[in-house]
Amino acid sequence: MKIAVLPGDGIGPEVTAQAVKALRALSANSGPQFEMAEALIGDAAFDSAGDPLPEATLDIARQADAILFGAAGTYASDLRPAESRGGHGLLRLRKALDLFANFRPVFAFPELLGASTLRREVIEGVDLVVLRELTGDIYFGTPRGISREAGGQRIGINTMRYTEQEVARVARAGFEAARKRRGKLCSVDKANVLETSVLWREVVTEVARDFPDVELRHEYVDAAAMHLIRRPRDFDVIVTGNIFGDILSDAAAMLTGSIGMLPSASLNAEGRGLYEPVHGSAPDITGKDLANPLASILSAAMLLRHSGGQEAAAALVERAVRQVLAAGCRTGDIMEPGATLLGTEAMGDAVAAAITSLKGQAA
Ligand code: IPM
Ligand code: MG
Repeated sequence: MKIAVLPGDGIGPEVTAQAVKALRALSANSGPQFEMAEALIGDAAFDSAGDPLPEATLDIARQADAILFGAAGTYASDLRPAESRGGHGLLRLRKALDLFANFRPVFAFPELLGASTLRREVIEGVDLVVLRELTGDIYFGTPRGISREAGGQRIGINTMRYTEQEVARVARAGFEAARKRRGKLCSVDKANVLETSVLWREVVTEVARDFPDVELRHEYVDAAAMHLIRRPRDFDVIVTGNIFGDILSDAAAMLTGSIGMLPSASLNAEGRGLYEPVHGSAPDITGKDLANPLASILSAAMLLRHSGGQEAAAALVERAVRQVLAAGCRTGDIMEPGATLLGTEAMGDAVAAAITSLKGQAA
């Protein structure tokens, strides 16, 4: 399997190195083999090549079977024009590869129930997926920009837009995902205010005719945000647009105890994918060996499953993570009294060691 490794900015390189370590542990002594090619993206690429998504990086990404991604953008570039913003490199990559279906599974690890800010009885048993549309909506709609009105005052404009084809394909992915799980799909929109959402709801309802075995319900995004915190076990698969999905998936992350636990897969119609931790670049803790690498390692597991067709290897990596948590290993974000506090590197070592030992048992 050919993997493009794009560590990017902030804590991206630190956590991605641990995911690579996990994959190498899997390969050692007759496991699946990976050919990895590393390339620059984000602020790191802009600073050295003048472009947050250099042509060379895009080529490597296109040639790979899958992309293992870290994070892009830092506070330093947030206020620059879009073309020179690190995060924009990621948005362009998503668009260039047409990675429209972004799966963000939210699973409350029993070992971490005490690490959440929410009460144990609320989050126990939570197992849901946020499916976020990733290549449309207000993220990409035009016109956009900051200009001056006739009176001289500045005006900022973004455009929320969805075509029915864009809605239909992500809706279909949502129904298919629900069908493989508990058969429940919740479509989230703001159809009481926005035309894009009225169309979204109509199209999702049309697609539903092909999936009579899946139970569909619609919720407004504000109500869904509340519902997610109040009764998260009600959800199986949530399908929603780009901006609502961005916001809801961060909120949903807290159900697991920490955003440092949340992996993601962004797939295109051919099933090729980009795999990244949901947490982003976290400039405040960069380079301090404080970041939780588990979201990145769990993203590598998703890569094995969805782009590699290697279910057994994916499950083994996930088991290794559970084992390390059960042994009481914690990074700062999920630390609890009585547990052992580890840095990024040591947590990566612990998971790699668990992979090696689980492999030994399986052999
Ligand atoms: C995410 C991030 C990105 C987004 C940023 C870094 C552009 O927040 O993947 O959720 O908004 O999509
Ligand atoms: Mg986000």
